[in-house]
Amino acid sequence: MGHRAAIVGAGHTRFGVLTDGPRPLLRAAVGNALASVDHGVDPHALDEAFLATLGFGGWQIGNASAILAEEAGRPGLPTTRVENACASGGSALRAAVRAVAAGAAELVLVAGVEKMTDVSNARRRYWLGVSGDTEWERLAGLTFAGVYGLLASAYLKVHRLGPEALAEVAVKNHANGAQNPNAHFQKQIRSEDVVRAPRVADPLGLYDCCPVSDGAAAVLVAREDVARRYTDTPVYVEGLGASSDFLAVQERPRLTGFDATRAAADAAFREAGCDRSAVSFLEVHDCFTIAELLAIEDLGFAGPGEAAALTLSGATRPTGRLPVNPDGGLKAKGHPIGATGISQVYEVFLQLRGQAGARQLPEVDRALTHNVGGAGATATVSIFRAG
Ligand code: COA
Repeated sequence: MGHRAAIVGAGHTRFGVLTDGPRPLLRAAVGNALASVDHGVDPHALDEAFLATLGFGGWQIGNASAILAEEAGRPGLPTTRVENACASGGSALRAAVRAVAAGAAELVLVAGVEKMTDVSNARRRYWLGVSGDTEWERLAGLTFAGVYGLLASAYLKVHRLGPEALAEVAVKNHANGAQNPNAHFQKQIRSEDVVRAPRVADPLGLYDCCPVSDGAAAVLVAREDVARRYTDTPVYVEGLGASSDFLAVQERPRLTGFDATRAAADAAFREAGCDRSAVSFLEVHDCFTIAELLAIEDLGFAGPGEAAALTLSGATRPTGRLPVNPDGGLKAKGHPIGATGISQVYEVFLQLRGQAGARQLPEVDRALTHNVGGAGATATVSIFRAG
């Protein structure tokens, strides 16, 4: 892997329906990340920056990464935009860690931003759809809720299950979001609310879906040998994995999981040199409730169909043996596309340093983040350890 990397700072804006545009959101997240560095950091120390954004609504489709140099206060900073749909953040983190590993950079800024709520419903459908297969899915009218509804139907049918575990994912993640001051939704819901909510794409209803959110997040990645210049408690990146799959879901051999997640997880654990039992908690890509169950299985923490029983047992609650999405996940915290993968790392940074406030998990020392592009066409998995 070359040089090891560590996270030494992290910043986050509120997620939700916000009045700020993308530039102020980015400025706030990057400013927070720089200000969070315990021993201080001069932006001129930055060697490189990566910006994760889909450019939702067309706010800045080309050359968006240059904005990062402006907002970081480091003119001339080499910047690159990374776009892998909803997996842009995880992919940008990977680019930063690899730049450090290669010895090409000592300190790298990784930020993600999306402004999603200032476009009409019709444009929003278009922009949500651009990351799916154009020929067979988007132009045929299949939305992401529609694709995940098909996956949920297949999962429940193949494993002969009812929808109870889907509802429990929503109830748990809303309860977790209620403890997170940055979350889009900070209200608890009951399983009856999930069942009675308007249908979006059967068997998924309103509370099975992530919302449409604005927001930004940023982290600072440092080479291991300089990390303690910035903080006494760095969070080390132990392993990274990434993979891809057929863009169109219809080309894939199975509908009950994502092979890209499986391959990315295996690669990340290989690189980290640890096994699943060493991981204290997961931050997974729950864009729809079914996605959390698929993630738990594809990441190797439950067998096929077994994530449902695991979830219903309470094991994935903050008090359980494998907490999943303690920050509320995409479901309740929100899902501003480019910011999501970085926001997951922000949560890991807080949790592994014991700074997560009301939602702090007890005795956590290793965590995993999982970020998915579209309906599983791209995936990244990262494993972190407390310093
Ligand atoms: N979960 C819980 N509540 C939600 C919600 C969600 N996902 N989406 C909206 N709401 C709430 C709103 O806060 C609002 O509440 P209020 O009446 O108390 O103010 C109400 O539901 C109606 O909101 P509105 O924005 O009009 O909903 P909508 O019908 O336009 O959109 C969805 C609902 C589910 C279609 C939309 O959130 C969506 O498309 N989500 C998926 C986004 C997506 O596909 N992302 C990419 C994933 S790969």
